Amino acid sequence: MRTHLCGEVTEQLADQAVQLCGWVDRRRDLGGLIFIGLRDHAGVVQVVVEPESPAFGDAEALRNEYCVRIAGRVRLRPESQWNDAMATGKIEVVADKVELLNASAPMPLMMTDEDGEEIRLKYRYLDLRRPRMQHNLRTRARMYQAIRKSLDKARFTELETPILTKATPEGARDYLVPSRVHAGQYFALPQSPQLFKQLLMMSGMDRYYQIARCFRDEDLRADRQPEFTQLDIEMAFVEEADVQDLAEKMICEVFKDALDVDLPSPFPRLTWHDAMDIYGSDKPDLRIPMELVTVDEYVAHVEFKVFSGPANDGDSRVAALRVPGGAELSRKQIDEYTGYVGRYGARGLAWIKVNDAKAGLAGLQSPIAKFLDEKAWQGIAGATGAESGDILFFGAGEWLTVSNFMGQLLVKTGQDLGLVAAGWCPLWVTEFPMFEYDEQAGRYMAVHHPFTAPTIPDAGELLANPSKSLSKGYDMVLNGAEIGGGSIRIHKPDMQDAVFKLLGISEEEARQKFGFLLDALKYGCPPHGGIAFGLDRVAAIMSGEDSIRDVIAFPKTTTAQCLLTGAPSPIPDEQVAELHIQNVSKDR
Ligand code: AMO
Ligand code: AMP
Repeated sequence: MRTHLCGEVTEQLADQAVQLCGWVDRRRDLGGLIFIGLRDHAGVVQVVVEPESPAFGDAEALRNEYCVRIAGRVRLRPESQWNDAMATGKIEVVADKVELLNASAPMPLMMTDEDGEEIRLKYRYLDLRRPRMQHNLRTRARMYQAIRKSLDKARFTELETPILTKATPEGARDYLVPSRVHAGQYFALPQSPQLFKQLLMMSGMDRYYQIARCFRDEDLRADRQPEFTQLDIEMAFVEEADVQDLAEKMICEVFKDALDVDLPSPFPRLTWHDAMDIYGSDKPDLRIPMELVTVDEYVAHVEFKVFSGPANDGDSRVAALRVPGGAELSRKQIDEYTGYVGRYGARGLAWIKVNDAKAGLAGLQSPIAKFLDEKAWQGIAGATGAESGDILFFGAGEWLTVSNFMGQLLVKTGQDLGLVAAGWCPLWVTEFPMFEYDEQAGRYMAVHHPFTAPTIPDAGELLANPSKSLSKGYDMVLNGAEIGGGSIRIHKPDMQDAVFKLLGISEEEARQKFGFLLDALKYGCPPHGGIAFGLDRVAAIMSGEDSIRDVIAFPKTTTAQCLLTGAPSPIPDEQVAELHIQNVSKDR
């Protein structure tokens, strides 16, 4: 039907006849002349219909988003009319035939960034016609190609694992599918292919990967979807560094191939403890040039109990954050930041504006300056590098809570004050704690997942000292987003038993849920480990999008619905009966 793509008609085709298909991006009627911006996935080309053209009448009837085929001749524009922003900006196509392939009803959306997300998701097939969305989906496709190329070269085998399966614990609720054939029994959709990929290592597959759909029923945010895509990788006979090196090389090749970006490699490595201590985050955004500074030693002696209490307690800290240029913040803005950190457990947020760094205590403006002395201030000023025009924020209390809320503040102020530098800042975060104690549940939880190996190699020792153990887990972080996470796995049955025990999983429950894994571990299981990347997140970062919904063709809303198809939706009573289930409430 066509000889060329709209976006590829350039001056090289001057004077040639072309046939193009696409949608009317914009139609301008300048009395005598009609201009049509004709759009396909490759771009937009300007079509001119002159009054004497036999196509003029047909062109007059066109409206936005009509689907058309145009035959015409390519003509160079006079230099004064060149549009350098467009690949097709030096030419126009003089039409002698305009064929309407299909008219369009009036558009329900404007097809611009002004459209609200609800309408965009309802009419997703139209929203996807926009160049931005076309670009995002095609960038994603290039990423997939680059991944396969890189991993195939590294002698990985691409394998598929089941979607209808048994629960795999990754910390979320399962999506369940009732069995029609087996009354009262359910499949779970995989939260990840974790157990199958480990089994594949026991099978001697050696190096596996899969671009795998995962399902997690959890509270959703901009960077979470109920179904999302992982690049799942597993390798036999490896230690942490082997997996990390492979994953780093692959992601560098993917960024180069798909985006022509050179990520700065080798990636820096930070232990989880240092990441929390310095950036208050296990996924620090190293583009923001700010750090948390522990000032315990300078405030341990002051009378201000809010500071001296935590400063003298081994499990607590007083952390300072210097925000360059922050002295300009208004009282209202500071109050807003206080409210903001409150959501992350802060009971207050002390601050000092440095009006004149040379004037000592007298140069400060702060509700807490009166509690400090010159010695304390000089210590704080030296450690934070405070300069005139800065604001210092302080968090005091239990180490992890303070680190967390101050880390949130670091990112928020960094973004608000425009301190986020351009560029790419990848890093590894390593040496995570093995367990965290859940006060509510009254037991230990796995920080990564229950199959991650502890740094303590002996099961007996681990049982005696669980809180001392770190895990052999690691995350890859890029520009403040956790884009991948993995670990070396437990490959011995006694260690797996010990970890289940510590997690409060009884022998009976372990057998019932993971009996097949425990059995498989008995038959010469090789040491193995792996990683999984969140490909929606990687694609969003590559496309410069804040939300992963903008790089998924048909995403769900934050309330886990598909506005396009109306899923989830009720099912007929017969189907309910067939599945041996019962609707408790129909109108929920
Ligand atoms: P984890 O749970 O860390 O690890 O997931 C791996 C990566 O997947 C992405 N991700 C998500 N992306 C979108 N929406 C979600 N709801 C969502 N949840 C996670 C993140 C994350 O880094 N089995 C392990 C991997 C392993 O140990 O090899 C796992 O699933 O980018
Ligand atoms: P208060 O003595 O509670 O009136 O607090 C005095 C100042 O210390 C106020 O500016 C509070 O916001 C701040 N503050 C209180 N608790 C903390 C805390 N845990 N960390 C940091 N600042 C705090």
